[in-house]
Parts: sequence; structure tokens; C-alpha cells
Amino acid sequence: MATRLGLDAELVATPHADPLLPEAGHWRHGVDADHIEARLRADTRGDIRAVCVVHNETSTGVTSDIRAVRDAIDAAGHPALLIVDTISGLACADYRHDEWGVDVTVSGSQKGLMLPPGISFNALSEKALTASRTARLPRAYWDWEEIVAMNATGYWPSTPNTNLLYALAEAIEMLEAEGLERVFARHQRWAAGVRAAVDAWGLPIQCADARCHSPVLTGVITPAGVDADALRRLIHARFDLSLGTGLGKLKGRMFRMGHLGDSNDLTLIAMVAGGGDGVAAPGRGTGGQRRGRRHALFRRDALSGRRPGDPASGRHAGLPDAPGTSTGS
Ligand SMILES: Cc1ncc(COP(=O)(O)O)c(C=O)c1O
Repeated sequence: MATRLGLDAELVATPHADPLLPEAGHWRHGVDADHIEARLRADTRGDIRAVCVVHNETSTGVTSDIRAVRDAIDAAGHPALLIVDTISGLACADYRHDEWGVDVTVSGSQKGLMLPPGISFNALSEKALTASRTARLPRAYWDWEEIVAMNATGYWPSTPNTNLLYALAEAIEMLEAEGLERVFARHQRWAAGVRAAVDAWGLPIQCADARCHSPVLTGVITPAGVDADALRRLIHARFDLSLGTGLGKLKGRMFRMGHLGDSNDLTLIAMVAGGGDGVAAPGRGTGGQRRGRRHALFRRDALSGRRPGDPASGRHAGLPDAPGTSTGS
């Protein structure tokens, strides 16, 4: 996107060889602050204007340490702005725009705030506002100056998404009534429960670093040769349970289980039950025997390419359809 806006973007990928996912080993880890510090120290001409990182990476289930990135920028003595995407992290995981010294925070309505998509938010530091005043990038709709000026009187320069603003007020009231500490603890508890289930299935978690396990969603890697999307289709066909697909380099190698938004213990239990049943389908047993059979069955059943709705899709005879449950993110 930055490139499309005419900016020079450099993707800083940290080397993380990973035999399990040779195509995307670094996607199993959080942002490497030391690497960022080294890159900034090498920028002796001051070409770098901003460091952009994602707080909670929705495509991989990795939550990065934003404070460490701030410290890295400061340690390098570099003036770059720190820009953070917390579209899926906000209201699920602790996030502190001011305290962590973030210059621009971007978030949205559609994840932890439990709303449909439709509103996006920025939090800005004085440094970011100053940089924006002297920047020569063309801007119109997203011009902070106009928005900040109008917001002071409770208005917007253009037509706001009024319906969603009412919903947002309600969501904030719900979050405050529960208390943010409890909200974050609830997501951690859900995440730990989902990881425990995935462990019991004998499948690896996409995020390889326990310090970065996401409280928002858990990525699950399927064995090589087992198409994660075929497994998702199988689970959808049987239980009307929609798990998230793997994206980009992880397409077909992982699926995502969401524990965010307007969920509760029961929806989480349903997701784990449906996911586990799909992974074990259709044979049941215990331990190694179950694992060995399961993989063989993946090949015979889930990999058949049959889709939900296909009369031959292999719905369990005698199993009632679960109510529609969407847990992808
Ligand atoms: C971390 C993250 N960044 C960016 C986006 C893109 O947001 P949008 O689709 O609203 O542009 C998403 C998706 O919701 C996301 O999860």
C-alpha cells in the first residue's frame, strides 16, 4: 500500500530458518527489535522516515512487543516515526499508544471492538502531527488537520458512519463495564484453551515463540501434504463452523481459530469441539493410533476437494448441524 501511495517501502524480514515452514519461517516469530535497531543505525543519511509494525498479526497469530520497537528506535537515536497497526489487537490485548511512545496508531472497528467493519481510528502524537504539517504527500479525505479541528467541536469534515458510532459507544461501555484487565485476561484464557486443544490434536501452533502467542487468534499448521483449506471445508460442511484460511505464503498450510470479538466461553468450546472433530475425522481413537489414522483420513476425506453443500460432501450421518458459528478472523 505504501508503494502505491508513492512511498519507498522496505520490508525488513528477519531470518528465521524453520524446517516446518521453510517458505515463511519468519512469519512464526514477532517483530525483531534488534534487527530494526541495526537497520536504523545503518541509516546514516536519515532516509528512513517511519518504522511500521503490526501489533497483532491477524494472518499469523503473532503479537509483537511494541515497547521493544520503541526502545530500539530510541537506542539507535533515530528520528523515525513509529507507526503501529493494532486493527486486531485493540481491545483484545494490552495496547498503550502514549506510554509506549507510538506516533501513529491505526485501528478499526471490526475486531476487538466487536463491530462490523466501517470505522477506522488513528491516535496521533504531536510529532506525527508536526510531520504531517510539513509532509508534501497529497491528502484530502484522510487529512488529520481537518479532522482534528472538526473533532474539537464534535463533528467530522465529511459524513461520519453514524450508526457505527452508536454501536461503538455501546461497545466501549461494555468493555469498560467488564474492565480492560478482565477483557485481556479473558482473551488470554481463551487463547490458552485453544492452544491446549491444538496441542492435544498433535498439531503445531503457527506462532513458534510462546512470548508472542496471540490472545486474538491461533494459527494451526497442518502436516505437510494436508491441505488446510480442505480441512476447513470439511469442518464447515459438517458443523457450519467457519475457520479462518491461511493467507499468502501460508495458504493451504495453516488455518486460523479466532478468539476475539463478540465471543463467549460457549462459542469457543463449540469451535474447539468442531475443529477437533474435523481434525480427528472420521476415525476416533487415542494417542498415536489416532494420529496415524487421522492423517490417512485427511488424505481420503478432507483432500477429496468436495465442498460444503455438495451432496457428497461427507456430512456425518446422524450428526445434527451445529448453529452457524464463524470463528475466522
Ligand atoms: C492487522 C490487520 N491490519 C490490517 C487489516 C486491514 O483492515 P481493512 O480490511 O479494514 O483495511 C486487517 C483486517 O481487518 C488486520 O487484521
